[in-house]
Amino acid sequence: MPITTCVFDAYGTLFDVTAAAREAAAEPGNAALAGCWQKLAADWRTKQLQYTWLRAVAGAHTDFWQVTQDGLDWAMEASGLSDPDLRERLLALYFQLSAYPEVPLMLATLKQRGYATAILSNGEPGMLAGAVDSAGIGEFLDDVLSVESVGVFKPHRSVYDLVGQRFGTTPDQVLFVSSNGWDACHGAGYGFTTVWVNRAGEPMDCLPWRPGTVLSDLTTIPELAGRP
Ligand code: LAC
Repeated sequence: MPITTCVFDAYGTLFDVTAAAREAAAEPGNAALAGCWQKLAADWRTKQLQYTWLRAVAGAHTDFWQVTQDGLDWAMEASGLSDPDLRERLLALYFQLSAYPEVPLMLATLKQRGYATAILSNGEPGMLAGAVDSAGIGEFLDDVLSVESVGVFKPHRSVYDLVGQRFGTTPDQVLFVSSNGWDACHGAGYGFTTVWVNRAGEPMDCLPWRPGTVLSDLTTIPELAGRP
């Protein structure tokens, strides 16, 4: 079936999750972060995601803003940082992450070509609204779907079910785009047509499913979706 609906993961796919630590490290008064912001950003992301999987498996859901804070607390301690003002600053920056540069034009092109577009994210609705607003991409999105409506994190199938429930699509009519290899693999297992945006050149995840396409950024998504 032709693609009718393009659905994007949010954090790491549309929004640059390393931007909060990078920008805070460049600010006056945050010299302690300057030498370790890359490690902090990587630890923060790793722990944030681990906590989503652990909470899903344990049936102990909390929202993504909470696991974002929990991941940051672990990452700050791992880097020897214990500054409450820095913690608040990092969280404020995470709430208003910038989009990758190609995102607005890519989404605008999809809308011009008549596709339905949406975010499908672990994000809590308030933090997703904050990022969408600060990136200025709300006008190019038909909806922002959050796992909070099902109360479990990706890759639970009930999250992927949200797309068909909202748009009336079969899975193969959906182009699902994620920078998280595991998310793209599970989306493929669900039946979506999938793209893994592998900006960092990471190895393919060793899971039973493989994304259909691997790209290094989002620029060619409209061509991949198929309509002229
Ligand atoms: C999301 C996380 C997985 O936006 O990046 O769902």
